[in-house]
Amino acid sequence: MAFRTSRTEIATVPVAELARLFGTPTFVYDAAKIVQRLDGLSVFDHVRYAQKACSNLAIVDLVRRHGALVDAVSADEIRRALAAGYSVEGTPPPIVYTADIFDADALELVVEKGVHVNCGSADMIDQYGSRMPGREITLRINPGFGHGHSQKTNTGGPQSKHGIWHEQLADALARAERHDLTVTGLHMHIGSGADMEHLSQVCAAMEKAALEAGDTIRSISAGGGLPVPYREGESRVDLDAYYALWDATRKRLEDRFDHDVRLEIEPGRYVVAESGYLVTEIRAVKQQGTNTFYLVDAGFNNLARPILYGAYHHVSIVPSDGRMDRPEQDVILGGPLCESGDIFTQEQGGFVATRRLPSASVGELLVIECAGAYGFVMGSNYNSKPLAAEVLIQNGRPHLIRRRQTFHALVRGESIPSIPEEG
Ligand SMILES: Cc1ncc(COP(=O)(O)O)c(C=O)c1O
Repeated sequence: MAFRTSRTEIATVPVAELARLFGTPTFVYDAAKIVQRLDGLSVFDHVRYAQKACSNLAIVDLVRRHGALVDAVSADEIRRALAAGYSVEGTPPPIVYTADIFDADALELVVEKGVHVNCGSADMIDQYGSRMPGREITLRINPGFGHGHSQKTNTGGPQSKHGIWHEQLADALARAERHDLTVTGLHMHIGSGADMEHLSQVCAAMEKAALEAGDTIRSISAGGGLPVPYREGESRVDLDAYYALWDATRKRLEDRFDHDVRLEIEPGRYVVAESGYLVTEIRAVKQQGTNTFYLVDAGFNNLARPILYGAYHHVSIVPSDGRMDRPEQDVILGGPLCESGDIFTQEQGGFVATRRLPSASVGELLVIECAGAYGFVMGSNYNSKPLAAEVLIQNGRPHLIRRRQTFHALVRGESIPSIPEEG
């Protein structure tokens, strides 16, 4: 992947044309990149897309059409999966609800539709078992360690709320048995944006847990967490090597159990991160002391990763004169929000950093790259900013897959109570 600081196109479509057609800020996704990543993962028996990374119906439909199963973490993610064409029945289950709790809506929906559940707490086992005795479930186990690109995305270990603690597996199995639930699979997800070293340790933890659970286990899930290269010098994991580790684990379990064990992987970020671009317009160029600021029309209401994690996103400008060799300068990139932290070029802890970018002027476009995962989906209406538009480019054609939120949609559901005047 080339980390250029100027670009004119996204997936062969001129960025200027995208801005003209759809306005800014707009998330643009390149369907070909999503398909390419899914193809790369096909060594695994099943890829289950973690839709929390990017859950637009068109994206969920795209991964479905390319053979991926889907993960849902809320009632409305289940409804999204259904709306995008997934069915409930099948082996492996096309939709799996993985969470640490059921809220009232989610419990009713999994019961009503018969959606497979992957329980991340003992309470989930009891709540589901008392409604649906006799069913199959899987368990999400916290192996006692975790890792992520940030401490905030580490989902394993004693400081994490996720999963059934590995030393409490016996209790979880006993609860399942009390409700006549059969535990048919185990799942471990130690964090998002982890590294190969930590991901590889999960195999041994999985093997131990599966042997403890016994021969009702017919599937194991390696979870997600695969890192993507956000900046120059970072690389993707060696998928063949990663698969080989998991395959060896699976084969040892098959030998012990004397039946097949399915191997799933459940990535979100890896599938969509690199496909996404946040197209913005520079609305002010400011000099504050010795610092130069480019202020664009997107903020952390659109892309929260920098303010949440100090996450790095590559940035390029779209030179309106087509000159790709403009002189570069150190700039700070900020957004429109009434909040000092509304800075895209920040490090963990909120420390403002500069970025070497080509000189640019008000009215020019700027693209924040690798924004497909945990981008739009973490958007908010802070400062009453509308949610951005989303566009999917397929075969060189851009399709609007979410129109920009209108004021009407923004205030829908709000009401002013008619309170009688005092006195
Ligand atoms: C249960 C589960 N599966 C999969 C994922 C996807 O992680 P990632 O996007 O890093 O692949 C997550 C996200 O944290 C998760 O909680």
